Amino acid sequence: MRAASVEETTSRRADPGDEVRAFYESHPYPAPLANLDRHRELYRNPDRRRAVSLLLWPTRQPAPNRKILIAGCGTSQAAIHAMREPDARIAAIDISEASLSHTRELQRKYGLRNLDLHRLAIEDVGSLGEVFDEIVCTGVLHHLPDPDLGLRSLRAALAQDGAMHIMVYATYGRAGVYMMQEYCRLLGVRANDEELRALGATIGALSPDHPIAAAASRAKDFRQADALADALLHPVDRAYTVPQLHAWIERCGLSFARWYEQAPYLPQCGAIASMPHAPRLASLPPPLQHAAVELLRGTMTKHDFVAYRDDRAGESQPISFEGEGWLSYVPLRLPWTLCVRERLPAGASAVLINRAHPYPDLALPINQAQDRVLAAIDGKRTVSEILRGATETADLDQGREFVERLWRYDLIVFDATASR
Ligand SMILES: C[S@@+](CC[C@H](N)C(=O)[O-])C[C@H]1O[C@@H](n2cnc3c(N)ncnc32)[C@H](O)[C@@H]1O
Repeated sequence: MRAASVEETTSRRADPGDEVRAFYESHPYPAPLANLDRHRELYRNPDRRRAVSLLLWPTRQPAPNRKILIAGCGTSQAAIHAMREPDARIAAIDISEASLSHTRELQRKYGLRNLDLHRLAIEDVGSLGEVFDEIVCTGVLHHLPDPDLGLRSLRAALAQDGAMHIMVYATYGRAGVYMMQEYCRLLGVRANDEELRALGATIGALSPDHPIAAAASRAKDFRQADALADALLHPVDRAYTVPQLHAWIERCGLSFARWYEQAPYLPQCGAIASMPHAPRLASLPPPLQHAAVELLRGTMTKHDFVAYRDDRAGESQPISFEGEGWLSYVPLRLPWTLCVRERLPAGASAVLINRAHPYPDLALPINQAQDRVLAAIDGKRTVSEILRGATETADLDQGREFVERLWRYDLIVFDATASR
């Protein structure tokens, strides 16, 4: 963990938690949204909510009145959740009054009556005296002076069969960010408007080969002042490698369920699948496969994942292609994926893309027979019904291989509620 001064007033503070609070009062992040109409439109599609729920719980229907905690909600995340899950009760906590007041404005504007806001630190979440079915904590725990204490506090507020969606920074892809943080410390750069303008111009003038260039071009808002401050002048910021992440969640009483987008971590996907080491990589246990692929990709800037309590009943990754249970899964296309039918590679009938993937090699070409299987995926039929209807020979091995590939590439999720 690193700690650095932000402004003279905050640099004299002894408590890094106070520094973080002061930082977010003057630099609320992400940039507040004034309008949630686009989100409202997107979630009119019931498949979108169903898909998000299946990412967390492939073997469970979401309870209509479930309780969701947004921990470190920032400026807009809690309002978005309250809008898209009108049947759920949302509690949101944050230490920054500036961020909460943006959320309050959205709450008023959209009449969100299922949302309760609290100015409260994650470390004190127990004082709510509530247990949640779902906890969302993205972009926060890596800013806590003691991330273990934060994660343990959240774990204590999670129902036994609940799910957590967490995002924390990844070490290797942020190498350039940490170099520039060090640079800012050397110069004593402060987080005021003038300094941030000069810092933005400095970053803009760096060579495209500088390690920060890729991270800056991928982050949509890097040029915006509060985003720049968040990335380069934050008083508390740490990152995790895949092995560190596994060790962290295990010692905090959780078990790893899945990556929110898994294809970037899998040796079976993209360019890594045709590298000479692919079979050796695939023979490792999954956590080591993912650790190795993180090293090969080299540019991951964050880890976005789902975790359960370690005393939860059942498998932490219930989707399996062993045995015959997979035949009763109901696949559902992820609504944010694309099917491209122009400028195709030779022999391809379409190319499938998950827009959340940061790596172009994860685009998946499919042939005509596979296209027929894809067309039959409607969120209602089981894999068995789809394969029987779409292929003349109903070659189960080929069918399994293809639906498994669609799943690995984050193009579908499975409703496995019938296979419990
Ligand atoms: C980078 S923003 C992320 C906001 C939101 N989760 C999102 O993904 O849009 C981090 C937020 O965490 C809040 N935060 C930082 N430390 C916290 C703590 N100990 N307890 C609660 N909130 C905290 C900050 O005030 C800030 O609003």
